[in-house]
Amino acid sequence: MSGYLTRRNTLRTTRIQSVKTESPTVKTFTVKDKLCAQAKPGQFLMLWIPGIDEIPLSVLNAGNGEVSVTVKAVGDATRHLHKMETGDVVGVRGPFGNSFTESSGKVLMVGGGTGTAPLLFLAKKLAAKARRLALVIGAKTKSELLFLTQLDALCTEQSTIAATEDGSYGIKCLATEPLPKLLSREKFDMVYACGPEPMIRQVFDLAEKRRIAMEASLERLMRCGIGLCGSCVIGKYRVCRDGPVFNSAQLREVKDELGISKLGFDGNRIPL
Ligand SMILES: Cc1cc2nc3c(=O)[nH]c(=O)nc-3n(C[C@H](O)[C@H](O)[C@H](O)COP(=O)(O)OP(=O)(O)OC[C@H]3O[C@@H](n4cnc5c(N)ncnc54)[C@H](O)[C@@H]3O)c2cc1C
Ligand code: FES
Repeated sequence: MSGYLTRRNTLRTTRIQSVKTESPTVKTFTVKDKLCAQAKPGQFLMLWIPGIDEIPLSVLNAGNGEVSVTVKAVGDATRHLHKMETGDVVGVRGPFGNSFTESSGKVLMVGGGTGTAPLLFLAKKLAAKARRLALVIGAKTKSELLFLTQLDALCTEQSTIAATEDGSYGIKCLATEPLPKLLSREKFDMVYACGPEPMIRQVFDLAEKRRIAMEASLERLMRCGIGLCGSCVIGKYRVCRDGPVFNSAQLREVKDELGISKLGFDGNRIPL
């Protein structure tokens, strides 16, 4: 193991600097950590919740010695984390994985749920670089449309489409529904997607049809975070080491699994 990986893989204990409620089920936690403060958009860290578990989380923001993650309460570890406060001790390893390439062309971002967190980090880098920055954002309901105001402010004027499943904000549909029309109206150079894998699969199929380059951030069960345990495999890849960001060519190689199935903690394949 290289010295740099050894340092990133060493658990560092730190204290929560701030907690921000983003929605009824989502909170953003900021901690001090010099290594994770150097993370790039798309990278993730492993957060240790003492006595409970260690879980992978995408970086929302990094810099000035601090790193932030946005967490949805879904199970044991994330619910415990949601009860923690400023000053409480957690552990971090990372940053791990690769990052999005930063396109200077016409860019479309498609985000769902907490998948909008790494896209906000990316959008901050792209705002001054991309020729055009458009967004389709989706959630079940209005209160779960994360970072809509911040993302909209970074995008080219009038380039944001919001979709909610219950119609409480924007168009009443899934985030993928406006895409065929949008992609036939305008030629994009790059599509970035992050969110539920069935959504990513649909975006991939549409991008392939129109021959648009794509990068998607994938999630798999993770334990080690550094390519050793094999729990995060997709096709020939390990998501923690070779991803979590995959390009069109790689997504093509894992098409049989993408949005269809993944390995569970017991090693059995489970549907997505
Ligand atoms: C690269 C990556 C980035 C992620 N980024 C975010 C993020 O920014 N915000 C966010 O809220 N969530 C993110 N997740 C998902 C997050 O890791 C899980 O929600 C969390 O681990 C659930 O733990 P739990 O104990 O609360 O729930 P559990 O009850 O243990 O599990 C609930 C569900 O979460 C998933 N999960 C559980 N443990 C893991 C694990 N070790 N690795 C991956 N998935 C797991 C499983 O699908 C499981 O069915 C990310 C996952 C990956 C792999
Ligand atoms: S989490 Fe262990 S190999 Fe990826």
